[in-house]
Amino acid sequence: MAQTEPVHIGEDRLVIHNLVKRDPSAGFAEDVRKGLSFEPKRLLPKYFYDELGSLLFDAICLLPEYYLKRAENEIIERYADEIVSSVDGHKTLLEMGSGSASKTKLIVEALLSMQDDLLFIPVDISASALESSSRILLQSFPRLRIEAYAADYFDSLSALSAKQRGRTLALFLGSNISNFGRDEAPAFLRALRRVLREGDALLLGADLKKDRSVLEPAYDDALGVTAAFNLNLLARVNRELDGDFNLPAFKHHAFYNEEIGRVEIYVESTRPQTVTIGKLGIEVHFSAGERIHTENSYKYDLTGIAQMATETGFSCTRTWLDSQERFSSNLLLAV
Ligand SMILES: C[S@@+](CC[C@H](N)C(=O)[O-])C[C@H]1O[C@@H](n2cnc3c(N)ncnc32)[C@H](O)[C@@H]1O
Repeated sequence: MAQTEPVHIGEDRLVIHNLVKRDPSAGFAEDVRKGLSFEPKRLLPKYFYDELGSLLFDAICLLPEYYLKRAENEIIERYADEIVSSVDGHKTLLEMGSGSASKTKLIVEALLSMQDDLLFIPVDISASALESSSRILLQSFPRLRIEAYAADYFDSLSALSAKQRGRTLALFLGSNISNFGRDEAPAFLRALRRVLREGDALLLGADLKKDRSVLEPAYDDALGVTAAFNLNLLARVNRELDGDFNLPAFKHHAFYNEEIGRVEIYVESTRPQTVTIGKLGIEVHFSAGERIHTENSYKYDLTGIAQMATETGFSCTRTWLDSQERFSSNLLLAV
């Protein structure tokens, strides 16, 4: 893991630890090489979030089809005071995969109505999203300090484990948990639990199983923004690894695999073709209709969430739903 000196910005209310800075494309290059040699081919969803990808995700959140953001926002807007009161004492706020932190703002506001000051520790693989969201939060909240980590979740957890913190409320919003497989999600929660102490809590946002007529448009909108977000992964390979993916020769494909309980997302080659990736010194062959698996979005039910909490050192003490019961916000107490 690359570790650089933390950067202090402004009046020292913002410190950014950039754990990916020294060689930002090293992990990407190796993972692209590996992923494109697999059968079937795959690329990891964490690589969606370069600067353009993060902005495209913010645009997805504005789409009528992408109900997840509005549903979770409705819950947090309504219950922020209850959520923060569920954890005793003067709290530090930690967030994994914070992105634009727009819903976090509501939690920060609720915390600052109960305590004099607040330390917020956001973690995100996208340094650009982290810096812009941090600056916006600091402008709105003069009593807030931010110690941010531009890092992969697991790298940040090893850096965080050494730190002494007060009582911690952790957030994992936006159903980020959905990108983990059925075994990976508990592994992540266990790793997060190890940096928390008994009595700390995690607010876990998890999207719920529902009819494909709602799920599929959320990942394949009429305007094509999700398609652009997905294809940007190929564009990123072109930009950073000297690739020659011909974007119009690939298309976005998303469908709900009901048996497994996940939306599966692919880019599909529309014809036989060969792609060269200069910096990797490789040629990759595609047949017509061949797909690269770029993302899974696992859907949950409330029993499954409670069970996963129990298996990973938490107890699910409260669940809040939006008015259409599409999305769940779960308070997991570290036990
Ligand atoms: C679906 S977006 C959700 C953003 C925000 N939590 C929300 O609810 O609007 C996922 C966020 O997690 C970040 N992310 C994805 N994979 C990551 C990883 N492996 N490590 C750290 N951050 C990651 C992305 O950069 C992005 O900001």
